[in-house]
Amino acid sequence: MSQPDVLHAVSPKEIEEKAARVFVGTYKRTPFHPRSGSGARLVDADGKEYWDLLAGIAVNALGYAHPDLVSTLQKEAGSLLHVSNLYYHPAPTLLAEKLVELSGMPKVFLCNSGTEANEAAIKFTRLARPGRTRIVSLVESFHGRTLGALALTGHEPYRTPFAPLPSGVVFVPPNDVDALAAAVDENTAAVFLEPIMGEGGVVPMTAEFLAAARRICDAKGALLVLDEIQCGLGRTGTFMACANWGVTPDLVTLAKPLGGGLPLGAVLCTEAVAGAVKPGHHGTTFGGNPLACALGLAMLEVVSRPAFLTNVKELGDWFGGALRELATRVPAIKDVRGMGLMWGIELDREAGPVIRALLAQGFVCGTSRTHVIRLLPPLVVPKAALEAFLPALQSVLEEKP
Ligand SMILES: Cc1ncc(COP(=O)(O)O)c(C=O)c1O
Repeated sequence: MSQPDVLHAVSPKEIEEKAARVFVGTYKRTPFHPRSGSGARLVDADGKEYWDLLAGIAVNALGYAHPDLVSTLQKEAGSLLHVSNLYYHPAPTLLAEKLVELSGMPKVFLCNSGTEANEAAIKFTRLARPGRTRIVSLVESFHGRTLGALALTGHEPYRTPFAPLPSGVVFVPPNDVDALAAAVDENTAAVFLEPIMGEGGVVPMTAEFLAAARRICDAKGALLVLDEIQCGLGRTGTFMACANWGVTPDLVTLAKPLGGGLPLGAVLCTEAVAGAVKPGHHGTTFGGNPLACALGLAMLEVVSRPAFLTNVKELGDWFGGALRELATRVPAIKDVRGMGLMWGIELDREAGPVIRALLAQGFVCGTSRTHVIRLLPPLVVPKAALEAFLPALQSVLEEKP
């Protein structure tokens, strides 16, 4: 049997059994077996169709089988799949150039994931602020799972089993200007913030807090790092999420949709920060992989179009309004938070059973913490999918438990 035949000859039940046998148990998987898709539609192994409102946790911004990504893959299939960062290749260079053009941030480091982007950002801030050992982050933030990124992550259950973590991180509550002002001092290298906390319950920062973060960092000589791994790259209706608040960071970390579905992360930074980083300070074998970068370039071409971003913004504004209107009629909905196509629906109950019921109704959704439904649909999601979701959510929440 050829390799693709082998992949398609295993039944869903066999896959679940094999997975239970061979994987380290880092994931509690849902018995859902997506096999193909188009746009925001997914099809499972039994041929049942779903609206995807999670996009592989914000990765599949262009949905599935987008023609520009398919044609890029086809063109590059016979090309070099890997070239060492010791040499030159057009794909990572043109991708970095595009990121500079779109973000206005002059320097780029490419890596493979969000966690790696934050690790690099931690190291860059240490280099740019030598001698300063403190980093300020937010309570309930999420920045990744390696020890450095975990040290910045403000969710105790993720941290506790791995103590001691790298020291010097101080946590302040989101949107608490006074706490931030008190935490940042002359020993602070950087403040790390998600403009919209994704894993931490979908919590947008206020304009006042982000403006204060910039002011406080400037006053104390600390660097402002925005983690836009989940909320960046068009998800809020602007290319960079921080543009919504008019805040200019010193560093931004990106990943998730950047590689068009393949692993790719990036740190964008100022000339001053980049100037502190010398050969040998940091590196990665795979970071800036030519295939991921070629897909990333195709993805950026689409996502950065003004009409594309306007549609995300208008659709998001409409959807947020519709969710808030639903909340006035459905007492189980306690709060609705978000922007663009990133929404959290806080419930009076655990979200897990609710998203399983929604899956049975044909909607793939996520959770954030225990009580929040998280929606991160492909940015190409049609309005019809979101319109269909509203009564489905209502009916699931009004069912007798
Ligand atoms: C805001 C944020 N930062 C960092 C990460 C870690 O990214 P990755 O899983 O690609 O390592 C995530 C992933 O969910 C994230 O949402």
